[in-house]
Amino acid sequence: MAYAPTTVTITGAGGQIGYALLFRIAAGGMLGQGRPVRLKLLEIPQGMRAAEGAALELQDGAFPLLAGVEVSDDPRTAFDGCNIALLVGARPRGPGMERADLLAANAGIFGPQGAAINAVAADDVRVVVVGNPANTNALIAAASAPDVPADRFEALTRLDHNRALGQLAAVLEVPVSAIRDVTIWGNHSATQFPDVAHATVSDPSTGSRIGVVDALAERLGGREAAERWLDETFIPRVAGRGAEIIEVRGSSSVASAAHAAISHVRDSVLGTTEGWTSAALVSRGEYGVPEGLVSSYPVTSTGDGYRIVEGLELDARSRARVDASVAELVAERDAVRALGVA
Ligand code: NAD
Ligand code: LMR
Repeated sequence: MAYAPTTVTITGAGGQIGYALLFRIAAGGMLGQGRPVRLKLLEIPQGMRAAEGAALELQDGAFPLLAGVEVSDDPRTAFDGCNIALLVGARPRGPGMERADLLAANAGIFGPQGAAINAVAADDVRVVVVGNPANTNALIAAASAPDVPADRFEALTRLDHNRALGQLAAVLEVPVSAIRDVTIWGNHSATQFPDVAHATVSDPSTGSRIGVVDALAERLGGREAAERWLDETFIPRVAGRGAEIIEVRGSSSVASAAHAAISHVRDSVLGTTEGWTSAALVSRGEYGVPEGLVSSYPVTSTGDGYRIVEGLELDARSRARVDASVAELVAERDAVRALGVA
């Protein structure tokens, strides 16, 4: 069956993550081979030349699946007919800027973008927010798009999920593909909770699966040592990895973030395979998260968008960690509400 082109709008397309996204999407890395894409690049005036340059390079790539590229600094033009929106462009925190200032600056970006999506995007539009603070930016965009079902707005925590897999694979000395059912709960911030309580790892010799905590206990010399490693090394390392990358590279993660965004959309539209992944979705109260917050959950898809995996047990310590991250989301929501948004 020949597919009509999918229109993908990327904001901040002239920036670092934008540049790491465009060519993989054009090559079929996000929607699969056989699905043509039309790319629409949104920038602010200062970023237009970089986005225009990327558009020239896209042309020079002669991608068979690329049905067209447009560059604009007008949200209504860029979101017109959009099926998938990747909201990457955001206002970074500047010197002396408080979190409230950052939220206010981003409300001024994600509010109007949500309104433009509401007005001109395709009926089936799906929106993934990458730009930070990603969860609350998604909440702002959803609140500004009253005619688009709120569950079409998501935020990226796949990078955190992948970071957790990477850390576990390294200590267990297994390929990442051996590990499944890790969860990132809460906010894409230092309060997030990377949870391995339900995660399993396959034994390469027998193919059978054992709990990740049991496997860690075997490797690290007992259950207590495993718990200590999780609390003192794994959780802070995953939750602080964004800051670690900034310190080591001198700027925030780019290729790993773009890869995570592509994987997020691909698994949503083509389906998850084994087990679950993590994504921040609009809560309908699942796991006690207040309705309307955009919080990270364990999710699966059969190709028609993500659904939250329900019914997992959370022990008291895990519950407290989820609650702490959700409290931060509540505070962010209250701060943008005080600005009259959301
Ligand atoms: P960058 O500064 O290289 O690029 C951002 C681009 O956005 C710039 O070209 C800028 O001109 C553009 N922009 C700013 N405001 C815009 C607007 N209103 N409309 C359209 N474009 C606009 O930054 P980057 O490295 O590409 O990172 C982008 C964002 O992604 C940042 O907020 C960063 O913190 C975030 N990020 C999120 C994750 C995640 O896992 N969720 C991971 C890494 C980075
Ligand atoms: C990341 O997780 O790498 C980024 O969200 C960090 C940042 O603050 O840009």
